Amino acid sequence: MATNFPDGFLWGASTAAYQIEGAVREDGRGPSIWDIFCHLPGKIANGDTADVACDHYHRWPQDAALMRELGLGAYRFSTAWPRILPEGRGEMNLKGLEFYDRLVDGILEAGVEPWVCLYHWDLPQALEYRGGWRNRDTAHWYAEYAQLTARRLGDRVKHWATFNEPNCACVKGYGDGEHAPGVRGRASALAAIHVMNLAHGLGIGAMRAERADLLLGNIYNFHPYEPADDREEDEIACQMLDALWNRSFPDPQMLGHYPEPFAAEMVEPLVQPGDFEIIKQKLDYFAFNHYTRSRVRRDPAHPFEVGTLPPPSGALVTDMGWEIAPDAFRAVMIEAKERYSGDLPIYILENGAAFPDQVEADGHIRDERRIGYLRGYLGAVQDAIAAGVPVRGYFVWSLLDNFEWALGFSKRFGLVHVDYETQERRPKDSFQFYAELANGAALDRD
Ligand code: FCB
Repeated sequence: MATNFPDGFLWGASTAAYQIEGAVREDGRGPSIWDIFCHLPGKIANGDTADVACDHYHRWPQDAALMRELGLGAYRFSTAWPRILPEGRGEMNLKGLEFYDRLVDGILEAGVEPWVCLYHWDLPQALEYRGGWRNRDTAHWYAEYAQLTARRLGDRVKHWATFNEPNCACVKGYGDGEHAPGVRGRASALAAIHVMNLAHGLGIGAMRAERADLLLGNIYNFHPYEPADDREEDEIACQMLDALWNRSFPDPQMLGHYPEPFAAEMVEPLVQPGDFEIIKQKLDYFAFNHYTRSRVRRDPAHPFEVGTLPPPSGALVTDMGWEIAPDAFRAVMIEAKERYSGDLPIYILENGAAFPDQVEADGHIRDERRIGYLRGYLGAVQDAIAAGVPVRGYFVWSLLDNFEWALGFSKRFGLVHVDYETQERRPKDSFQFYAELANGAALDRD
């Protein structure tokens, strides 16, 4: 069975500054928390750093040509705050803004619409020295950064996202410490959640004040959880992880309150009177990322006493060990509409899979398993649309293989293979598969 996507369905691809740009000390860029974290021993698999990554800072014209070849409708990238404001606030770095200027122009010339995300986890280290996302002032500095970036690029970029997966940045960066800045704790994670929520609200206000014609949203991540078994402690852990991961941002931003399991901890002086009016802003679209689902059990060693189990034996998994479960994706889209987004257009801003791709002797990369994953998950998008969910676009993660955070270069998510020795780009078979869809082909749903 072959099924078409609706007319005008937007085909995109996503990347993030720190995962592809490299050039971390060039043209006045300041260090981010990830630069510092990567150089701490033992934090990143194989001792990798993103100092060079995909060298996109220099090779972006070639990457824009790949976007054109792919026939993308839109390309989502992030701006690096420390490139634009090396100290996080105060004096701006013109060369940083000029880089994004050229990039936006190049993407437009390739016939692709640029979508900008303002924060994909690379806080300027100078602000971390001042408490980072635990410090309420960071929300105000973020709003200044958002406003000045929108001032510079807003004549050409219409779609803006305040944050990519703020939940992950808080839970991993300030909760379990596996991501930069590597802080472990419960109070620190909750403080980061609130300050990032405030930053979102202040940032939306600042961008609207700058230009009235921008389309603004935030990028959540939805990951369905279920208890590992019917023990009460696992049920409690599951509710906590669901609240932390899935609800800590859309609940306050769309509904105006924190979710039950930790709401009682969100009190003064952290949460101040009037904060929810700042946080709950009208958005123009509703966006999220989704990859997989997990089972939860109580882990007394974790700051929130939560832990996940590997998928059941026999389950199909990606190279991340993530279960391939497209049905969970369909359920998530339906739930997102019912719980949060109503009639707002929905965009899936990341979905994709890592596999250990090999360049074969004839130069091909036959990534059949990635194609299979995409087929299944895009089928779920069609099912959700058929069920009345207004999904208007889908952005694959990712255009290029890139730096997968604490896992370094060990996981390949791209439609394009990158040889990190030579920086050679080589489209995989999934690139052709995706190009056909972007070109209007129906999805073969076997
Ligand atoms: C998401 C991140 C993205 C990438 C994918 C695999 O959580 O937003 O940067 O690492 O996972």
